[in-house]
Amino acid sequence: MQLVPLYMVKPGAALARSIPFGDNSLLTRGTILTSAYINALRTRGVFKVYIETDSSYDAVPKDVISEETRNHASKTLQDVFTDFSDLTPRKMGLVTEVAHSIVDELLDQEDLELQTHDLRSFDDYTYRHSVNVTVISLMIGKKRDMTRHELNRLAVAGLMHDIGKMKIPISILNKNGRLSSDELVEIRKHPDWGFSILAQKTNTDPLVWSVARQHHEMGDGSGYPDKLDNRDIHPLSKLLTVADIWDALRSDRPYKSGWSADKVIDYMKSESMLPKLDIESLNSFMELVKPFPLGTMVKLSDGREAVVVCQDMEDSYRPVIRVSNVDEEGNTKNVEEIILTDTPELSIISSI
Ligand SMILES: [Fe+2]
Repeated sequence: MQLVPLYMVKPGAALARSIPFGDNSLLTRGTILTSAYINALRTRGVFKVYIETDSSYDAVPKDVISEETRNHASKTLQDVFTDFSDLTPRKMGLVTEVAHSIVDELLDQEDLELQTHDLRSFDDYTYRHSVNVTVISLMIGKKRDMTRHELNRLAVAGLMHDIGKMKIPISILNKNGRLSSDELVEIRKHPDWGFSILAQKTNTDPLVWSVARQHHEMGDGSGYPDKLDNRDIHPLSKLLTVADIWDALRSDRPYKSGWSADKVIDYMKSESMLPKLDIESLNSFMELVKPFPLGTMVKLSDGREAVVVCQDMEDSYRPVIRVSNVDEEGNTKNVEEIILTDTPELSIISSI
């Protein structure tokens, strides 16, 4: 399958992965896309889809948790967050159950790698973002040999870290354009609001409150709300910040397109970011991601477009790719496979 920007998708293409919506699907795998479907996806803020192509039939990025678990987790958060003034022990018990089921699925796997791009619409952005940040944080935690007990605590903290966003008007959260300085001040209140909601209304572990309050703090003191520095930020909060930044930058938002994996990797390893991030968490995370994940479309140095079909190479910047050569009518004539490690004259210049 191939991850294709929506503007490049032609009617007649078949969806290779369902587009989630709550604990169900907006469109299911196998759906043949029409112009109406493509427009509806665009309106809902889905700007990339996985589609089936002849050149990428065997490139199947594997998610680290099942689609059912991801959807169920997202729907549970939606139910809990929507009525955040009434966080009963029963509701928090549902969150704990979801947290433990994600940990169980991750611990069942030997080799963890973040291959898939999480598709989401604007409506369920906060919930799916929270789930993805949780999954990535746990992957880092597992890499760092955390115990099941620590991972369970981290999972609840991950699921709840952005609950303070529920107090921000949706018109600001989903604003299509630059935020004014007043709106930015409002957005930056969410860690403090999250802390208050969790501390006052739930029976959760105080660690969960701290992570909600500290997840936008930076090691060099440039974060918010308390401008804490490295020594004062809880280690689990620093770990979650790495996952949060990755997911936020990769995501499509009303005011920006998500960045490609290679661009986010470069940014997170840049000189300006290194003093802000926890280096151990960052190093562990970098072992879990690839600059050009399976199914990514790329532009080559000779101007052609290709799809990444195998990433098991020593140099992750030179994967195996396939190029579809087409005739004048746009029909595929043949598919050419190129092992970039054996083809020094050719390189990837960008993701599409
Ligand atoms: Fe946040």
